[in-house]
Amino acid sequence: MSGIRPTGYLHLGNYFGAMRNYVRMQDEYPCFFMVADLHSLTTHPDTRALSESVRRVLAENIACGLDPEKVALYCQSHVPETTELYLYFNMLAYKGELEKTTTFKDKARLQPDNINVGLLTYPVLQAADILLHRAHLVPVGKDQEQHLEMSRNFAQRFNHRYGEVFPEPQAFNYGQELVKVPSLDGAGKMSKSENQNATLYLADDDETIRKKLMKAKTDAGPTEPNQPKPDYIDNLFSLMRLVSSSEVVAEFEEAYTGCTIRYGDMKKQLAEDMVRFISPIRERAAAIHQDDAYLKKVMQIGAEKARESASKTMVQVRAAMGLNYY
Ligand code: TRP
Repeated sequence: MSGIRPTGYLHLGNYFGAMRNYVRMQDEYPCFFMVADLHSLTTHPDTRALSESVRRVLAENIACGLDPEKVALYCQSHVPETTELYLYFNMLAYKGELEKTTTFKDKARLQPDNINVGLLTYPVLQAADILLHRAHLVPVGKDQEQHLEMSRNFAQRFNHRYGEVFPEPQAFNYGQELVKVPSLDGAGKMSKSENQNATLYLADDDETIRKKLMKAKTDAGPTEPNQPKPDYIDNLFSLMRLVSSSEVVAEFEEAYTGCTIRYGDMKKQLAEDMVRFISPIRERAAAIHQDDAYLKKVMQIGAEKARESASKTMVQVRAAMGLNYY
């Protein structure tokens, strides 16, 4: 089970960090992938753009290979059982631990005029998302580790107080393959909101992709054989390894080692390989995004599958809590 917030455009980091794992998991496990529209209200109270963002995220995920027939692909707000479980978990969560959460402190700093209680209980809602399906594995990045730990705590507290209902969910990724997708300005990873010129979005058109890559920082090149690569050059090789053939990567590695590399040529090659990688995804996503009838069906079928799983859990939850009076 995992969730995707419908804020911002998906980028190459999301693809290699998350979506590629989802696509692989769908053939190995029963999966639930959810668009976290309720979570987005904690930071984006204006809902005018929400419907558009939700549809775009769905389209982009399907374009990346998620198959709505194999997995449950749904919107959080279409599964009201989520908010019921959230309520029960709120009685098991302590104000002190929520206030200490890193993401809460960060967001409170970013929006000092809107430190709403939804922001405080964000991890409680996330625990409800996950435990609603009694999920064991949650494919997420490092930034979600603390939320998962809290989910395990709420599960333990519930089980301890009312009886064993929930497993303890763990963060999941395919082993060694935790890939880093560096930002094009040499500073950190690609990110949804930071430097848009240093991030490649799955919605970028071909010219934009070429422009962003050609602007990436390089230098005059290595001056002696086997010189270690500066970070910004290493980053270009990292990106190349993601989208270019192994022959192409080997060719440029060799040219680097032998000091014959021309970064202009390398960036041109990388740009063409990147365009070849991103453009089919972008075009599929655009076509799906336009297909209202299809997206409506995807959402309906997804909600049906998610609610079926959710209602089974909630029967157990209410029984364990003694809320079944007749
Ligand atoms: N908090 C997650 C993020 O910011 C999104 C999310 C919401 C989520 N519910 C979830 C992730 C459940 C995993 C499982 O990316």
